[in-house]
Amino acid sequence: MKIQGATVLVTGANRGIGKALAEEALARGAGKVYAAARDPKTVTTPGVVPVKLDITDPAQIAELAALLTDVDIVVNNAGVALSTSIVNDDLETIRREMEVNYYGPLQVSRAFAATLTAREGHLLIVNSALSWAVIPGTSPYAATKAASWMLANGLRLELPKVGVTSLHVGYVDTDMAAHITDSKVAPVEVAREAFDGIEKDAMEVLVDGTSRQVKAALSLDPSALYGS
Ligand SMILES: NC(=O)c1ccc[n+]([C@@H]2O[C@H](COP(=O)([O-])OP(=O)(O)OC[C@H]3O[C@@H](n4cnc5c(N)ncnc54)[C@H](OP(=O)(O)O)[C@@H]3O)[C@@H](O)[C@H]2O)c1
Repeated sequence: MKIQGATVLVTGANRGIGKALAEEALARGAGKVYAAARDPKTVTTPGVVPVKLDITDPAQIAELAALLTDVDIVVNNAGVALSTSIVNDDLETIRREMEVNYYGPLQVSRAFAATLTAREGHLLIVNSALSWAVIPGTSPYAATKAASWMLANGLRLELPKVGVTSLHVGYVDTDMAAHITDSKVAPVEVAREAFDGIEKDAMEVLVDGTSRQVKAALSLDPSALYGS
């Protein structure tokens, strides 16, 4: 799908990867970029159109989808990392994480399905290397990203006229990974890879070595990832 002249909607576009995605869409000549945020006043990127969207609010999603019938590309980026432990974290927090990271993109994708089908558009979901493996302190989050990976696969089957890309990456240098001291990918690199993937109609984009290694390890015995 061509970005030049296209109308793009990015969720969670006020900061982090979402802000970089909105900027990259503009840099590639998108005709219009809707930068969705829970609080549109926090969108600071010149040239985008700020719109209000909490991806867990069905009424806001329905209202926006009814209004924005010119969207060619939906980038499901907004997400949270709230919990670290299946056993010790509060169940409500774990449910909340699934609500944002799985049901959020699911609801947004459903709401824009008719418009994207009519326009033969494209959906991209920002997933993670943790769609395919768990490391200590990430189990509930990883489950949300595994579910969201399968959401991308399901959308591909159900929306044959829409291109669907699932993007996977290890740590990225944003607020979400501020506590991480390991090496991190720059948000602008994620954004470049994302739009390269959309331009090529790639089903999956594996941004970094971490995501490539983890995906390759899926074909091995689980002891390769989780010990004997
Ligand atoms: N950073 C990493 O290491 C990493 C790695 C792999 C994948 N990812 C994924 O990349 C995506 C972006 O993460 P990031 O690193 O850019 O994180 P971030 O800097 O924490 O930004 C998260 C964004 O999501 C928005 N958001 C959260 N809940 C929302 C909701 N209910 N409705 C609408 N927007 C909501 C936030 O808005 P507010 O400003 O209103 O909170 C913010 O714009 C997420 O899906 C994340 O899981 C991140």
